Amino acid sequence: MMNDIKKVSVSKEKIEEILTRLGKEITKDYQGREPLFIGLLKGCNPFMVDLLKHIDLYCSLDYMDVSSYAGIKSTGNVRINHDLNTNVEGKDIIVVDDILDTGRTLSAVVSLLKARGAKTVKLCVLLNKPEGRVAAIEADYVGDLVPNEFVVGYGLDYNEKYRNLPFIGVLKEEVYSK
Ligand code: IMP
Ligand code: MG
Repeated sequence: MMNDIKKVSVSKEKIEEILTRLGKEITKDYQGREPLFIGLLKGCNPFMVDLLKHIDLYCSLDYMDVSSYAGIKSTGNVRINHDLNTNVEGKDIIVVDDILDTGRTLSAVVSLLKARGAKTVKLCVLLNKPEGRVAAIEADYVGDLVPNEFVVGYGLDYNEKYRNLPFIGVLKEEVYSK
């Protein structure tokens, strides 16, 4: 698997720094509150699990699996493949995902959670690809910026593979023609 990697975009050490920084920021911002972390499957793993170890707050967690498809308007619609087990009404929510690209998925999720009565909804993503944006949405907590190229690892997949890489990297061209 390691032989398929052309270059490392975000190293293991850099990811560790990101987790520490975001953990501190969230801990500070949510003093006195008990946020509900909602991870979007499957890309939120392992980011969500590792991030939670850096959060010094009482909190709870849940997961959703959603896929977005473009609607008539640019924000798109969302299909729920696996829903939450938690009632979000009145809750302070932090949605955790691997990457903010077009923003269709996250903007649809935010609308859904607000419609269900969430008190506040903030977004935390490991990576931000600003050049890919279609929907008008930004994340509140961002690990790192990446250029508009396809990356894998630490949750991000290519055809369901490479999610288990301990860093973020770019694949060799020949991998796509296999
Ligand atoms: P969007 O922001 O709605 O376009 O959706 C973002 C989702 O697309 C992410 O949660 C990933 O699953 C996937 N995605 C976007 N860019 C990449 C990438 O570079 N590598 C792997 N998956 C990606
Ligand atoms: Mg995803």
